[in-house]
Amino acid sequence: MPCKVVVGGFWGDEGKGKIISYLALRDRIDIGVRGGVGPNAGHTVEFEGRVYKLRMLPSTFINEKSRALVGAGVLVNPKIFLEEVKATGCGKRAGLDPNCAIIEEKHIVEDKKSAYLSKRIGTTGSGTGPCNVDRVRRKAKTAKDIPELKDFLVDVAFEINKALDEEKNVLVEGTQGTFLSLYHGTYPYCTSKDVTASSICADVGIGPTKIDEVLVVFKAYITRVGGGPLPGEIPQEEAEKRGWLEVATVTGRVRRAAPFNIDLAKRAVMLNSATQIAITKLDVLYPECRGVKRYADLPDEAKNFLKNIENSIGVPITLIGTGPDIYDIIDLEASGRISPVEKRK
Ligand code: IMP
Ligand code: MG
Repeated sequence: MPCKVVVGGFWGDEGKGKIISYLALRDRIDIGVRGGVGPNAGHTVEFEGRVYKLRMLPSTFINEKSRALVGAGVLVNPKIFLEEVKATGCGKRAGLDPNCAIIEEKHIVEDKKSAYLSKRIGTTGSGTGPCNVDRVRRKAKTAKDIPELKDFLVDVAFEINKALDEEKNVLVEGTQGTFLSLYHGTYPYCTSKDVTASSICADVGIGPTKIDEVLVVFKAYITRVGGGPLPGEIPQEEAEKRGWLEVATVTGRVRRAAPFNIDLAKRAVMLNSATQIAITKLDVLYPECRGVKRYADLPDEAKNFLKNIENSIGVPITLIGTGPDIYDIIDLEASGRISPVEKRK
């Protein structure tokens, strides 16, 4: 049974929440598990008229038969975790690893008070950077030190490896995006650890030989929040005109915007060894695509946009987002198009 990892290809906010929640239902997963940094990420899931904003639990929670776990590498804010368990109705389906490091108030204060972090780097102020510092110093508290979390503690690495050995279906959720990686991103304008597929797998405790598919998610245009380079950046008024103006899930900041960038996408595919690509928000570039569910129903302009990406990168696009709801999607994998590049030649 395949183990799939989903990661962001640009600077986060590519629409991973939507893609991951769709896959959780389509693939009838047994376990969804979140890697990545921590509650600095906000994933949005829209399903049956409800909108969920998740900062701790995996977006896979939407599949009520699945476990919703948080890997040992992820920093946990206990208050946010417990609130989300309640808001999603996950109850005991939710779990976190005893080794998750704990974000304390002092980490949040430091993140917000430091002019370097909050102004120059433009962090989310969620305390993740300072908490990772304490973790490296081996001073951070871990989940097993927090009585309120004790009902949720589970050996996540063991549970998912056992599930894979039993041919069960595990979906690994990455957070942030490739160019926010501490190693491969736009340093120092990046987050506090690596967030490429390899690290996401390490976060949850799966080695590379157990991974079958790496899906990298790109939005049809690029956004980023905070400081740092953004090739092809357009002025805010222009972004507004094009309908690209977005507000950040965690901080409420206006996101900077730029057109899709093939060279960056190629590099992201390389850094993640991606085997598949998802493109989200195609309807924002081409409004006639809104809610379209079949590739054949897309306008030529949109098809050309997709073909150009695939042909330049050489990795198949398997999912295309055409609206905010989970089912506003074109699923080329489910329709048997294993190698769309070949078929379109
Ligand atoms: P930090 O991760 O809060 O320390 O912030 C460092 C940089 O990463 C800032 O530019 C943030 O805006 C950015 N960042 C961190 N997490 C996310 C995310 O999930 N989406 C978008 N940007 C993020
Ligand atoms: Mg986000």
